[in-house]
Amino acid sequence: MKEGELILLEDKKGKKYLFTLKKGGVFAFHKGKILHDEILKKRAGQTIVSSKGEELLILKPTLRDFVLKKLKRISQIIYPKDVGQILVLADIFEGAKVLEAGTGSGALTLYLIRAVGEKGKVISIDEREDMVENAKKNIEEFYQKRIEEIKSLTLKRQNLAEIEEKDFDRVILDLPDPWNYLKKVKEVLKEGGILACWLPTILQVFELTEKVEKEFSKDFVLEGIFETLQREWQKRKIALRPKDRMVAHTGFLIIFRKLKS
Ligand SMILES: C[S@@+](CC[C@H](N)C(=O)[O-])C[C@H]1O[C@@H](n2cnc3c(N)ncnc32)[C@H](O)[C@@H]1O
Repeated sequence: MKEGELILLEDKKGKKYLFTLKKGGVFAFHKGKILHDEILKKRAGQTIVSSKGEELLILKPTLRDFVLKKLKRISQIIYPKDVGQILVLADIFEGAKVLEAGTGSGALTLYLIRAVGEKGKVISIDEREDMVENAKKNIEEFYQKRIEEIKSLTLKRQNLAEIEEKDFDRVILDLPDPWNYLKKVKEVLKEGGILACWLPTILQVFELTEKVEKEFSKDFVLEGIFETLQREWQKRKIALRPKDRMVAHTGFLIIFRKLKS
């Protein structure tokens, strides 16, 4: 483990603690304290014992851990379970040129950067400066790099109506009124490219699909409307059953293909 790195400690019940390692730092929780210097001597996969005798597993956090436990949210975010569906159904590939609006807290952006790889390009825009600033901090914290060093990403304050760059392979919209930007998406998305919209309510889904049917049926074809329910199970001795709680609703994913004009 190195100073400045993100670290995940996991107790026997699966409770996770995520923080940044600092020389001289102390991690304190209800079962005692652990010196960061002691963790720095260890490797991922090893265990460490707190001052009150609690054994914890040392791990490097996954991006999912980071999004759920550390990412600073000033907007609603797209949950990792839904990101999985977006990456597959919008077919985000290595080397893809992707437009994302809005950035929000950057939860999806973090995954897009990884999915397109160094040869790809993510242009992520948000009309709000505070969103862009907060997302920048989240991205820098997870990737442990200054944003300028992430060459595959352009993050900027911009309204979707103002975007001029063209020839995107994929466009992903997580904003409340995507139907108002269909003309713009038609201009910037490649023929055959995929438009993925994320919407929390079915009334929005209806408004979007109606607008496409009535005014853009020559430009987009609806591929599908999807919802993802993820039910986690527990294993406690013989009590092998679904957990009591689950995230019941997040949103709907609507996928369109751009037609040749
Ligand atoms: C729900 S948040 C996006 C959350 C993001 N997907 C995430 O996972 O963190 C919606 C964002 O869209 C932005 N937004 C709304 N309309 C916009 C527009 N026309 N152009 C650019 N950004 C817009 C808002 O400022 C807001 O930050």
